[in-house]
This record gives sequence, C-alpha cells and structure tokens, in this order.
Amino acid sequence: MEKVIDFEELFTYVKDALAAYDHHGGAAKNRIKYSRFAHTERVYRWMLILAEDFACDIDMESLKIATIFHDIGYSLNKENMHSHAADGAVLCREYLDSIGYPAEKTEFICDLIARHSDKEVLHREDTPLELVLLMEADLFDDTGAHGIVMDAWIQATKEDVSFESILEHIKKFSLKQMQVNPMRTEKARRIWEEKKELTNKFVESLTVDLYGGM
Ligand SMILES: [Fe+2]
Repeated sequence: MEKVIDFEELFTYVKDALAAYDHHGGAAKNRIKYSRFAHTERVYRWMLILAEDFACDIDMESLKIATIFHDIGYSLNKENMHSHAADGAVLCREYLDSIGYPAEKTEFICDLIARHSDKEVLHREDTPLELVLLMEADLFDDTGAHGIVMDAWIQATKEDVSFESILEHIKKFSLKQMQVNPMRTEKARRIWEEKKELTNKFVESLTVDLYGGM
C-alpha cells in the first residue's frame, strides 16, 4: 500500500530536530535569534504560492517533503554552513527510510535537498522544476519588507545603533540584494520586482525622514 504522508508529523519532526539550533540562533545570522524552523514554515508558504501555477507538472508530495526538510542539516550545527544541504539530504533519507518511503522518491527528494543551496543550479536547463521552486521559495524569505526588518534587527544588536546606522545597514544589504532579480519562473520574477520597488521606496522615504528634502 502507498505510504500516506502526514505533513504535520514531518513539520514536528523537523521542529524538534532544529530546536537546539533555534534556541541559540546559530552563528550565521549576526547575533539575532533566527529561527530556522520559522524560516522553514515561511519557505513552505512561498513554495505553495509559486507551485500553484505548476500543479500538473510537478511531484507536489516530493516538493513538500523536500521543502520541510531542506534546512534540517543546520541541526548538526557545523562550523561549515555550506554542508547543511548535504547533511540535510542524509537526515531526510534517514527519516524517509525509517517510515518505509519508496526508494525512488526518496532519491529524488534527497537530491532536491542536497542541491538546494547551489546558486548556479537555479538557471540550469536540466534542473527539475521542483528544485527551481524550492530554491525560489527559499530565496524569497528575508527579502523586501521582511529583509528590512531583519536588517534593523541585526543592526539593533550593535552598541552604536541609531536610525542612521539602521538605514545604512538596509542600504548595504536589503537594498543592494533586491536590485538583481535572481528568479526564474514568471510569478517569482514578478513578486521579486514588487519587493524591490517596496524596498527602494522605503529607503527613499526613510532618507527623507532622517535627512530632509523631497
Ligand atoms: Fe532555507
């Protein structure tokens, strides 16, 4: 009989695995308590939005499982952040094997996880659509309004924080990041442009607020 996946159970499994990492926030996010699990939930929601247009063309169950597990590799909390994708694939395989999930599908899902942080893969012709959507969803997190708030949060941990230093931080990170649209599918490219416009306007407006002019 075909194994029926309980996605809530998968989320709980990943949440538990990431609990220790999320408790201290990890090393990569500039002293802020960045929850990898909350990130995972947001990426999952982005994935559902982007995948809507491709319901007939993709293996949705595999994409859902890969998205839920994509950052579980951080739970190993290694110095080398780049290994999180390969580690995630190993941990996901362990889980799927333990529930008797079909080997062929497990192979596909673990390949999506193992390659999800290789930026060059996104625009390669032979990249499966499931991987494109996972990577796009992952890239959307912490961008636009959310990226601005994160920049402010990071800057607020510094001793000499001020409105001006927060604006500079936003210009250096979010504003700069938003100028190059990295997306591939049409909807993702459009959403990125909307986020870019918002970021540009926010920086313009805050500049006026802090330094005057119009
Ligand atoms: Fe991620």
